[in-house]
Amino acid sequence: QWGLNTNWLGKSIIHKESTTSTQHIAHDLATNHADHGTVVIADEQTAGKGRLSRAWYSSKNKGIWMSIILRPSIPPYLAPQLTLLTATVLADVLKKELKLNPKIKWPNDILLQDKKTSGILTEMQAEQDRIQYVVIGIGINVNHEPDDLAEDIQSKATSLKIETGKSWNMTELIQQILLYFEKTYEDFLDKGFSVIKEKWESYGYRIGEVTSIKTFHDVQRAVLTGIAEDGALLAKYEDGTIKKVYSGEIDWFGN
Ligand code: BTN
Repeated sequence: QWGLNTNWLGKSIIHKESTTSTQHIAHDLATNHADHGTVVIADEQTAGKGRLSRAWYSSKNKGIWMSIILRPSIPPYLAPQLTLLTATVLADVLKKELKLNPKIKWPNDILLQDKKTSGILTEMQAEQDRIQYVVIGIGINVNHEPDDLAEDIQSKATSLKIETGKSWNMTELIQQILLYFEKTYEDFLDKGFSVIKEKWESYGYRIGEVTSIKTFHDVQRAVLTGIAEDGALLAKYEDGTIKKVYSGEIDWFGN
């Protein structure tokens, strides 16, 4: 049915017409010993989850709503690398297969023309210093018309159809994403994070540019230089120091 060309990723695919969230299903399956590489896909989610406890709109047959179960043997603190990896996979598919010009807005929003078309939510179950499993949730707005986007996100969200003026075959997109994912994941295990870092930075939104970064006590200007091993964003301040930025502190669309 899915016509995959992968070796292990998506060998088992659980497909639901409608569910609360593919993340929930994936957690249940993973707790019940689902294999590394199991994939859950839904046509519709009634309680899609975004990062930072936000909702993720997942209307029926408009986009790709999918979760991947992985059992990586890396320490829990390096799990953010898998999110960055996933972002490079999505950017690669959009660029190489769809000939678009995607950017990755740190940590993991995929933008087309400065608007978000895709998000990634990574959730992990770890015990002591071992990861039991990771669930990587991928949401891509594919065939939405402008009116299909919820009102509160219309100004900052988009879809592949809105950007390209045509509808896309979602099964083909899923095939490409899973194939690129498997290859990139194997590359990552083989050669380490540097391959991901380099690629991520080449897609990085406003990398090399000056932005304002807000901390508890002030706002300072800094050049965004790249990403660190632990997933932090690196910023070079006017006094020459390079610091790690962890979350929600950047004025992305101002200066
Ligand atoms: C974000 O940008 O905030 C992350 C969005 C992640 C959405 C996907 S859709 C498939 C999976 N199931 C969910 O409930 N969320 C993720």
